[in-house]
Amino acid sequence: MSTSLNTLAPSLPLDMIIFGGAGDLSIRKLLPALYMAHLHGNLPPSTRIIAVGRHAYEGAGYIDFVQQQSQPFIDAKNFESKAWQEFLQMLDYVCLDATDPDGYAALARVSRQGVERAFYLATAPSLFTSICDNLASCGLIDSASRVVLEKPLGHDLASAQEINIAVGRHFSESQIYRIDHYLGKETVQNLMVLRFGNGILEPLWRAPNIVSVQITVAESVGVGSRAGFYNETGAMRDMVQNHILQLLCIIAMEPPVSLDPDAVRDEKLKVLRSLRRMTLGDIARDTVRGQYVGGAVNGESAKGYLNELDVPAGSSTETFVALRTYVDAWRWANVPFFIRTGKRMQKRLSQIVIEFANPPFSIFPDAPRTRANRLVIQLQPEESIQLQLMAKQPGSGMHMLPVNLNLDLESAFSQRRAEAYERLLIDVVRGRLTHFMRRDELEAAWSWVDPILEGWQELGERPHNYAAGSWGPDASAALLARQGFEWIE
Ligand code: BG6
Repeated sequence: MSTSLNTLAPSLPLDMIIFGGAGDLSIRKLLPALYMAHLHGNLPPSTRIIAVGRHAYEGAGYIDFVQQQSQPFIDAKNFESKAWQEFLQMLDYVCLDATDPDGYAALARVSRQGVERAFYLATAPSLFTSICDNLASCGLIDSASRVVLEKPLGHDLASAQEINIAVGRHFSESQIYRIDHYLGKETVQNLMVLRFGNGILEPLWRAPNIVSVQITVAESVGVGSRAGFYNETGAMRDMVQNHILQLLCIIAMEPPVSLDPDAVRDEKLKVLRSLRRMTLGDIARDTVRGQYVGGAVNGESAKGYLNELDVPAGSSTETFVALRTYVDAWRWANVPFFIRTGKRMQKRLSQIVIEFANPPFSIFPDAPRTRANRLVIQLQPEESIQLQLMAKQPGSGMHMLPVNLNLDLESAFSQRRAEAYERLLIDVVRGRLTHFMRRDELEAAWSWVDPILEGWQELGERPHNYAAGSWGPDASAALLARQGFEWIE
C-alpha cells in the first residue's frame, strides 16, 4: 500500500459501534479481528468498541460472554493476556431493539462526543434502513462517520437498491464500506500485484493465450446452525453474487489507472457489466444447481441438507452452483469462465485456475494429454501460486511431465498474515475504500444474478443431488467436459 493511503489514519479517537455485537459474526470474526488490530497497534488510542444487541446482559455479562466465546477464535500464538485484558476494557454494550427509535438515546449516551464513529451493521439487511434512520434522528451521524454494511446486501437488485437509497440518505458514498471479506484475503489482494506488478503476465493475460478460467470455492462444512438464513439465501446469493464475482472481476479487469478506490472499482464495474446475460436457454444449459444428500466428509458421516437443523421439508434451496459464463469484451472473447461453489464438498478448497493455450503444434510424439500450462492460485486452505510448465523427465528419450514453478510466499515473507476481517477493519479505520464494493458494482452484480435466479424459478427444477463429501453433481463435470475441460482439484 502506498504511504499516502496510510496517512489516512483518523485524527480523532474512534467509537466502533457494532450492531449485532453479540451475534455469530461478531463473536467469531469481528471481535477477534479487532483484538488483533489492537495487539498490533492498529487501532487509534482510546478506541471504544460499543456492541449493540437485543439481549440484555447483567453488569459485565457481555464482557464475560466475549471472554468465553470469542477468545477460542484467537490463535493461541497470537494470544497475549495483557493485550486481551486491555481489549476487554475497550468494550461496552448497549441493549436496544434496532427498530425502536427510543432505544437509541442509550446509545447516544454511551458514544462519546468529538470522536469518529464507525458503525458496523452485522445484522439482517432488513434492519439497515431503520438503523440508519434512527442513528440520524439521534444525531449520531456526522461527516466523519463511516458505515460498514455486511453482506448479503439485499436479496435481489430491487432490495439492494432500496437499502442503498436508504443508507445513502444519511451517508455519502465515500462513507459507505460494503464489505466482502474475500477482498481482504491476502491472496486476493496479491492477485492485483501478480497481474499489475509484473510485466511478463500482462501480454499473455487474454484470449487466445488463455483458454479458460476456473474459480472454485468449495467448503467441506455444511449449513450448520445457519439454516434460517441459508435456506432463504442459497449458494448463488451467499457466494456467487459477491465473493466469486469479485474474484472474477480481479482476474478479468483491465489495469486500473491507479490504486485509488474509484479507479479500481471503475474497472471492476466494467467487468460486471460485460458479463453475458443469460437467457432461459443458457440457464438450462450452462448452470447446475445442487443440494447435498447424506455422505461422508473427511471420513465422517455427514447428513443431507434436508436433514439439517431447521431446514424445511422438501426445501429446494441450492447448496451448490456451477456455471459457465463469458466476459463479453475483446480481452476475453470466447473464453469460458467456469465457476463452482458448494457446501459439504470433498474438501475445503478455494482456487483460481487460469488455463493457457497449448503450443500450436507438438513435436513430442508422447506429450501428455494434460494441458501444458496452468496458473493455479490457491486461496484456501493454503495460500500458493503455482505455474505449471512442461519439463523433460530425466533419462533417455524426450518424455515430459508437468512441473510447478512454485511461488513460496510463506518463506519469502516472514511477516504474520492478517485475517481478512482484520485487514478490512483497519481499512475502515484508515478510510481506505479500495477493497470495498461501490454501490454501482453491487447493483451490477445483482443485475447479472437476478435473471438466473428467476430462470431457475421458471424452470422449476429441483437441484441435482450430490453426496456430501463429493465434488458436486455429475452435471457439474459434464458442464466442462462438453468443451473439453475438467475441474482441477
Ligand atoms: C460467507 C458465507 O460469506 O462466507 C458463508 O455466508 C461461507 O456461507 C463463508 O461459509 C466462507 O468464507 P471463508 O472465508 O471461510 O471461505
